[in-house]
Amino acid sequence: MNIPIIAIDGPSASGKGTIAERVAERLGFHVLDSGALYRLTALYAMRKGVALTDEAAVAALAASLPAEFRQGEVWLAGENVGQAIRAEEVGEGASKVAALPAVREALLARQRAYAQAPGLVADGRDMGTVVFPQAQIKVFLTASPEARAERRYKQLIEKGNSANLPDLVRDMRARDERDTRRAVAPLKPAPDAVVLDSTAMNIDQVVEAVLECYRASRN
Ligand code: CDP
Repeated sequence: MNIPIIAIDGPSASGKGTIAERVAERLGFHVLDSGALYRLTALYAMRKGVALTDEAAVAALAASLPAEFRQGEVWLAGENVGQAIRAEEVGEGASKVAALPAVREALLARQRAYAQAPGLVADGRDMGTVVFPQAQIKVFLTASPEARAERRYKQLIEKGNSANLPDLVRDMRARDERDTRRAVAPLKPAPDAVVLDSTAMNIDQVVEAVLECYRASRN
């Protein structure tokens, strides 16, 4: 079983999701948005009134998450939550529950089950380090906090949400800090990852760079 896996890790709003989708489309691969699982877990806990600090209770919810991904839509317990999981406070909650070891453990098998033929593009924080250490291609996608805050700002405004750029830069730095410093599966490039700084690159250029890494690995 040698399923090709392309792991794309990196900080918040570095463009991982878009890049992962485009690369998967070009190769006809499956795609795993692991951040969505942490967002779903946080949203589920919030809806159930479970404190995000209650590790055992949140892990139990994560283990039995009634979530489904269908044609670009995300469903939780029969409700379309595609928009709800993108809210900033759910992202904040995701970052909090993601720091709990039991929650990460509870989501591990679910993530690994995505490794299916003809291949997988997985995006997150620890795809190359913890979930798929055997991945053939590991990309660590980054960009300056300001560039990332600006991208997130545009995204939010386009979707009709309100947003404030200085607040976003501040939140971005706080999220980076928490994701990088947590004890379990911290955000860091795998030793064998290619680090791509996309501050001055557009989406097409990043997609091409990732595809080039993949092609090179097959020669
Ligand atoms: O869109 P953004 O990059 O901000 O977040 P996301 O990829 O949807 O992930 C939301 C949160 O889940 C992040 O802030 C991380 O703390 C956490 N996460 C994680 O710990 N491990 C992953 N593999 C993916 C996400």
